[in-house]
Parts: sequence; structure tokens; C-alpha cells
Amino acid sequence: MVSTAPPPLQVFRRSADAVKLSDQQDEIIRLKKEKNAVLLCHNYQIDAIQEVADYVGDSLGLARQAAQTDAEIIVFCGVHFMAETAKILNPSKTVLLPDLDAGCSLSDSCPADQLAKYREENPDLYVVAYVNCSAAVKALSDVICTSGNAVKIVNQVPADREILFVPDQNLGQWVMGQTGRKMRLWPGSCYAHVLFTKESIERCRLEFPDAPVVAHPECIQSVRDLADEVCSTEKMVSYCQSHESDTFIILTESGMMHRLTRELPHKQFVAGPTGHCACNDCRYMKMNTLPKLLNCLKEGSPEITLTEDLIERAKLPIERMLKWSV
Ligand code: 13P
Ligand code: SF4
Repeated sequence: MVSTAPPPLQVFRRSADAVKLSDQQDEIIRLKKEKNAVLLCHNYQIDAIQEVADYVGDSLGLARQAAQTDAEIIVFCGVHFMAETAKILNPSKTVLLPDLDAGCSLSDSCPADQLAKYREENPDLYVVAYVNCSAAVKALSDVICTSGNAVKIVNQVPADREILFVPDQNLGQWVMGQTGRKMRLWPGSCYAHVLFTKESIERCRLEFPDAPVVAHPECIQSVRDLADEVCSTEKMVSYCQSHESDTFIILTESGMMHRLTRELPHKQFVAGPTGHCACNDCRYMKMNTLPKLLNCLKEGSPEITLTEDLIERAKLPIERMLKWSV
């Protein structure tokens, strides 16, 4: 019988070498300036893109930045629903996404026509939508939340309304535990975060018994139960910064390791292993590359376009979220 040993764990530290930018990166920086473009980048993007971004952060931080920017062009390095959110908040601006196919399995798990039908059959429900959903789903929702403010948002929903939480059942389940509020959960999930298993994390803990485990709420419950902290990607940075430990086990997408080692160069981060791999990439986040980003700045495309009517309807629940999460 063939037995396969689990892959060795990957530990990330900031290298002491100064980072020299490539010609492509220099050209991206030059074009941003020339075109009055701002580059907003999610924590899961490849290292080389994070290095040339004007802002790197989580979904909430990115939505706030998009709402405030004076730039004429927003180049969004993240996935489609994030760039759509930026467009909804800035209808008169050009919003570019280096690869329009950069989608999200969670967003795909809640098609707008299915949600519309469910709402029709259950008209009294109050719909809280995790930002990882399409503009059409946002337009059918009462309020949006991100992993960074979900507890705060759910706590503000009128107490007499029953909540339907879409599309992530794992985040929804975690929020129920944090708020004590019962909710109906849409059966969606992130294909990448559900790959962490109780067994893979227990194995990792044997090797690093003193390292706190930090997990994204999109992980399944048996994994979240092993975590010392469950939080958004942005909160991971502040948690690790203020914690006395110098080693952490991080259960989220691998791009986060760059953000963490860049901000906390004196600490080290063990990438949470899945059942079969030493770390966990989101195939959609990794579709954006330096050549695609450069091309997108040069050509002014691919561009996010949405109808005025959809923008109007999707804006309301996003603005409600921004108001409720100050
Ligand atoms: P954050 O808002 O915590 O960065 O999460 C976004 C995401 O897509 C997680 O998979
Ligand atoms: Fe979507 Fe999961 Fe990728 Fe986040 S990590 S963008 S939830 S598929």
C-alpha cells in the first residue's frame, strides 16, 4: 500500500534583503501617476502586486477606500465582486479589474434568481448579505456585511425581524455564535477555506504547540473551534501585532503571508496546511498577474460596467453597511 506523507509545513518570515522592483513594477507605478489611478489591492493578491499598491487590505477597508478616493481611475486587484462594490460606490469613475474572470466560489453559490425566488416565498425576511456576492444579490439585500463587521451589522438588525444570511454558511454560523441571534443560513461556502481540516490543523499544532491559531470565519466550525482568534484578514494583522507570541498559525489564503511578514518583520507565520497541501491559494485571487495589471493600466480595460438601475439598488445596502460600521 502506498502511504503519502503530509507535505512539510511552510513558515514565512520577512527576508532581510531589500526588495528591488522589477521594470514591470516601475512601469505600473509610472502609469498610475500619469493616469491619476489608484491601485486598491486585497490581502490575497500576489506579493509583486501588493508591493505596487496604494492600499492593501480586507474587503471592508477596500470598500472604505473606494468610497473616499479622489482618483479618476480605480484599478482593483482582487476579485470581481470587490471591483463591482467599488463601481457601485463610484458610478462616475472607471473601475478596472486586470482579469474579469477573477470570480469567487462563494459569490457563485448564491445566484440572484434563486435568492429572488426565496425572498418572494419569504417576504418578511431581513436579508444580510456577506459582501462576497454579486451586485444583483446585493440589490436584493437589506444590508451588506464583511467578515470585519458582520457581528456589528447583525447586532443592529431590528430585533423583531428574522434574518436570512447569504451566501456563507460558515461565517453565518460563526456570527450566530457571537451574537446569539438565530438566522437562516444560505448553504454557500468558500471552496478554499473549507479545505482546512481539524486533522491538518492538529498536526500543525503538534509542531508549533505555542503558536496561536488565527482563522478566517469562512473556515468550517471544527477548525474555527481550534482557533485562538477568528477574524477578518485585516484584524489578523492587528491581532498578531499586539500578541506577545512571535509565531502564529494562519488559516487563510496564502497571499496573507506577504502582508503579515511585510508589516510584522520580527514575527513568523506558519501557513495552515490543508488535507493535501502545505498552503492554500484562492485560484481566483491568483488570476491577477503583473502583465495583466500592466496591460490593464495601458489599455484602460477590462472595465467593470453595471446598469444605472442595478447600481442604485445595490448602493443602498452597501451605504447602510458603511453607516452601521463606523
Ligand atoms: P476579508 O474581508 O477578511 O479580507 O475576506 C475576503 C475574502 O474573500 C475571504 O476569502
Ligand atoms: Fe471567494 Fe474564497 Fe477566493 Fe475569498 S478565498 S475570493 S471567498 S473563493
